[in-house]
Amino acid sequence: MLTSIKEILTKAQEGGYAVGAFNLSNMETAQGILMAAVERRSPLIVQITESTMKFAGAKEIAEITRTIIKERSGDIPIGINLDHGKTFEVAMRCIDLGFNGVMIDGSRLSFEENLNLTKRVVDYAHEKQVTVQAELGVVPYLGESDLSEVNWKDFMTDPEQARQFVEATGADSLAIGIGNAHGFFRELENCDWDRLAEIREKIKIPLVIHGSSDWLEEKIIKAVEGGVSCFNVDTDLRLAFVHTLCQLTDDKCAITDPRNIMDAVRNAIKKKVIEKIHAYGSANKA
Ligand code: 13P
Repeated sequence: MLTSIKEILTKAQEGGYAVGAFNLSNMETAQGILMAAVERRSPLIVQITESTMKFAGAKEIAEITRTIIKERSGDIPIGINLDHGKTFEVAMRCIDLGFNGVMIDGSRLSFEENLNLTKRVVDYAHEKQVTVQAELGVVPYLGESDLSEVNWKDFMTDPEQARQFVEATGADSLAIGIGNAHGFFRELENCDWDRLAEIREKIKIPLVIHGSSDWLEEKIIKAVEGGVSCFNVDTDLRLAFVHTLCQLTDDKCAITDPRNIMDAVRNAIKKKVIEKIHAYGSANKA
């Protein structure tokens, strides 16, 4: 059941668990995510990026996703969110396409520019009962950079700035930097937990961790205890997809029906999402 993302996150925050926000790339990944949500009775968020919209066609992927939610979710609360929207225009477009949440990522802009862009999106989105996630601090994509040379301070969220930012923008949730990074094993082994505690103390809205594909259960539990209500996952699902595909296919592959391959892919996605649901503590919270 398409459900307000604000409501999903607030319930998680109040209930002391987190929900997953899972990036999809096509029909089968969306179905796999939804199958996991239904089987474990877990609320969750499905996410679409600008690059997925470019790849699949914005209207096409939005309609497919909305239809899958309608057909499969029953009474399980599901949100549909734009992940890392960079402009007001893309946020507006997604709202028009029926997303009930948008992330506006102004984290690469100056504090003032990020604040102004986020406020503009919040004003537009709230008129339409759409939830807005903002980002302050930076969750980096470190690629091949030498991790010993990364100055993590440059990426961390400043707690006092976060307080001012949330107060001025009215954003519904905030993505923060506490040593997390996108991709696998490209981040600080130990997060800045004191910083998380300070941020939690200063702002009351749900906190989101991006780049959590590679977070082990112990770290997830610590973050949830520290007040994190949502974890974004992309890379881990991509890997589940590609590994399954590679295992089933080679140049002597005898499979003649692509549906057999995509069924295995869908099940691999479902399995991975179920693992995350258990780590986040969101099973049976629907
Ligand atoms: P990962 O690719 O590390 O899972 O990060 C996903 C993410 O944060 C999407 O916003």
